[in-house]
Amino acid sequence: MDKVKKQEKIVEMFDNIASTYDLANRVLSLGIDKRWRNIGCSKALELVDKKDIEQIVDVACGTGDLLLYWRENANKKGINVKKYIGVDPAVKMLEIAKQKVDFAEFKVGKAQELPIEDNSTEIISISYGIRNVVDRIEALKEFYRALKPNGIVVILEFTKQNRTTLLDKVVDFGMKNILPRVGGLISKNYEAYKYLPDSIEEFLTTDMLIKELESVGFKHKYSKSFSMGISTLIIAQKW
Ligand SMILES: C[S@@+](CC[C@H](N)C(=O)[O-])C[C@H]1O[C@@H](n2cnc3c(N)ncnc32)[C@H](O)[C@@H]1O
Repeated sequence: MDKVKKQEKIVEMFDNIASTYDLANRVLSLGIDKRWRNIGCSKALELVDKKDIEQIVDVACGTGDLLLYWRENANKKGINVKKYIGVDPAVKMLEIAKQKVDFAEFKVGKAQELPIEDNSTEIISISYGIRNVVDRIEALKEFYRALKPNGIVVILEFTKQNRTTLLDKVVDFGMKNILPRVGGLISKNYEAYKYLPDSIEEFLTTDMLIKELESVGFKHKYSKSFSMGISTLIIAQKW
């Protein structure tokens, strides 16, 4: 399958599961994703270390969850963010985001053709989205272009892990066997939730992703894995 077709199919899949996406997320992560998201936003705001931020762009924003965490964390730290923008190519995911998040502007668009001006943004985030971007290097270049000098990209992702211990094998079993069944039941779309472990298997390790970020000019600032390596936070800076 060519790249364009592959990307279209991925976006179509998210459109198809949009109505049950949030429920499936909460159930499958047992609510732990809230912690992963909170830590990502909090750490990033600490690193930016500004009381006034012009713009935060959440790419592959889906149903808009991460934007809620950006605002909550910015408010907690007394940081004034002028503009929040969510970008996603799946129109049905964006429809739900618009119902939940009334303080952000939403744009239909892909990471590899980001509808954001050059040097305009302090923070670009992408949570559980970069794995779905077929032209990943193009997307990373776009993040670099849209960020202001010293701006940061914040990636939350299920990176590929080398699972060797018994506990690792249990996690692996759950991801490959239980998750697609539960996700399939909630969404009535087994394939979409089978795609999740398959796409993680095909994805990069954390080190490989950091190397890709560096290859387009970013400087690695911070990374940390959570919950037995299930979720990883990577922060890199435009240099
Ligand atoms: C697993 S969801 C994550 C949504 C949200 N960020 C979250 O944390 O819940 C992946 C999202 O990536 C979006 N997506 C797929 N391909 C994309 C691309 N090329 N550029 C930007 N977003 C894309 C999908 O439409 C979907 O909303």
